[in-house]
Amino acid sequence: MKSAAQPLLEVSGLYTGFQTAEPRRSLLTNIHFHIKQGETVAVIGESGSGKSTMALSIMRLLEPPLCIQAGSVRLEGQELLQLPDKEMKHIRGQRMAVVFQDPLSSFHPMLTLGSQLMECIKDGSRRANYARCLEMLERVGLPNPEKMMKSYPFELSGGMLQRVMIAMGLLNRPKLLIADEPTTALDVTVQAGILSLLKDVQREFGMGLLFISHDLGVVSELADRIVVMRQGEIVECEQAAQLLQCPAHPYTRHLLEMVPILGQPLPEQVRVYG
Ligand SMILES: Nc1ncnc2c1ncn2[C@@H]1O[C@H](COP(=O)(O)OP(=O)(O)O)[C@@H](O)[C@H]1O
Ligand SMILES: [Mg+2]
Repeated sequence: MKSAAQPLLEVSGLYTGFQTAEPRRSLLTNIHFHIKQGETVAVIGESGSGKSTMALSIMRLLEPPLCIQAGSVRLEGQELLQLPDKEMKHIRGQRMAVVFQDPLSSFHPMLTLGSQLMECIKDGSRRANYARCLEMLERVGLPNPEKMMKSYPFELSGGMLQRVMIAMGLLNRPKLLIADEPTTALDVTVQAGILSLLKDVQREFGMGLLFISHDLGVVSELADRIVVMRQGEIVECEQAAQLLQCPAHPYTRHLLEMVPILGQPLPEQVRVYG
């Protein structure tokens, strides 16, 4: 049964590892966290800490030999790990969507962006769906949506393509959007534009957002709560303001020391060389 207090996403006791490894080795160990309706939760941790593996586990997009070994992933109370593939595929398109780091490799190179966007909408007339695509391309700040629909992925810059991918993720107005380092491949100005776009649409659509980054500076503006990952485990999970001011775990403190904060003196090692 749904209730106001029910989290949008609830991950508990999640272990992900190799199908064949004997004894079983896990890349993710006992992951627990939740996202409330409309909340932005950021996941941070250095490269290799398991952030993408976690996102792929939640979406059930892991490729062999990786597999989920144990645990539970619930979306609005519904257990996803037991669902037949077909139902999961439906949920992936409709109720949760993901935006990856490298937009170019996420699109089919030989198909127009329009045909790839249209493919994401399952119901409705062709005409209505086309209008919906145009509207969403416009919403994510792309000029000339009609032309965009006829373009191929290689014709767009990385920043523009990332916007198309966000539009694609939003087409069905999902309850949850997972963004896995969506700005890492982009330069700083484009990055700022994408972040503020995500923030705006997240508010407008009342979506839950799981925002993954290795950069605490990037997430500090966006997140309501922050989950810190290290070597496949969550070491700290706290309200953003609290975590940024009083990090409890030494690893979080270490990550914070790496972030130059405006108006504050730089950390010792940066001042010496900077
Ligand atoms: N398909 C795979 N086969 C073997 N190891 C993998 C595979 N995918 C990820 N890993 C390992 O899992 C760990 C976590 O990777 P990843 O989730 O990509 O980290 P992050 O996204 O935080 O950089 C890394 O040590 C990586 O080498
Ligand atoms: Mg990653």
